[in-house]
Amino acid sequence: MAYDMGEYYERVEDYDLEYQSQSELDQPFWRELVMRYTPQRVLELACGSGRIGLDLLHSPGAFQLEGLDVAPAMLAAYQRKLALESAEIQQRVTLHQGDMATYNLEHKGTYDLILLPFNSITHLYELEQQLGTFRNTFDHLAPNGRFVVDIFLPDIDYLSDALNRPSHVYLEDEIESPDGDFTMLLYSSRKYDPFEQLQHLVGTHEKFFETGDNERYLTKLDMHVFFPRELQLLFLATGFAIEAIYGDYDWKPFGKGTRQIVVGRKQH
Ligand SMILES: C[S@@+](CC[C@H](N)C(=O)[O-])C[C@H]1O[C@@H](n2cnc3c(N)ncnc32)[C@H](O)[C@@H]1O
Repeated sequence: MAYDMGEYYERVEDYDLEYQSQSELDQPFWRELVMRYTPQRVLELACGSGRIGLDLLHSPGAFQLEGLDVAPAMLAAYQRKLALESAEIQQRVTLHQGDMATYNLEHKGTYDLILLPFNSITHLYELEQQLGTFRNTFDHLAPNGRFVVDIFLPDIDYLSDALNRPSHVYLEDEIESPDGDFTMLLYSSRKYDPFEQLQHLVGTHEKFFETGDNERYLTKLDMHVFFPRELQLLFLATGFAIEAIYGDYDWKPFGKGTRQIVVGRKQH
């Protein structure tokens, strides 16, 4: 089966603009996590354009940070942002282009923290990709290392709409560009396939420029919907113990928030 993802991660400037507000929610969580665990070597899977990684480099700790992503455009944007940082920060970071289901890095077996933030796990569509990622990550961790996965909790009303009313179009957001030269409106329509647990989003980005010009483009994005027991089983089936599950970025217990943030531990 072919899945849609490509074009969504090619317009990196719009991606960064769209998820600025997400940073206010999740960056403090990841900073606090790194302060609690005090790792020496951290790997972010599906690191994108460095939204989380670059922020972590400014939190306490002198850990080495590696980022892995499949999309060259996202990694190029990460690299451009990194070039604006001090030499001291730059030398702590290594970026890799690769697939999280099959990666094989030089420092395999020595990472004490591997992160998979902000729904990126939804891009693991097939069971083999999911198992491959978890097994591979287990092998890359040092003994007692942790794998932390962050994804939304499936919302039954949302999925029911996507299943039963796939033709509805939702206005998701209205965003001003930082220098005020355009306003971007984001619309989406959603379909849900309950057998494949696949959410298919079609997004329209519409930009209205101060000059009177406008631009519109379509993106398609497929996401695998992970139910809680399914995600927990992936950890257990690949050798991890589950150390904690949080329900949101404010460290609420699982079930009290809108997310599932699972901390898996390699116990030997
Ligand atoms: C929602 S973005 C998250 C990016 C970044 N972690 C953030 O929070 O802004 C998902 C990222 O996953 C990457 N991705 C998707 N499938 C992947 C795979 N199989 N291996 C590695 N990266 C992948 C995409 O290229 C994209 O950069």
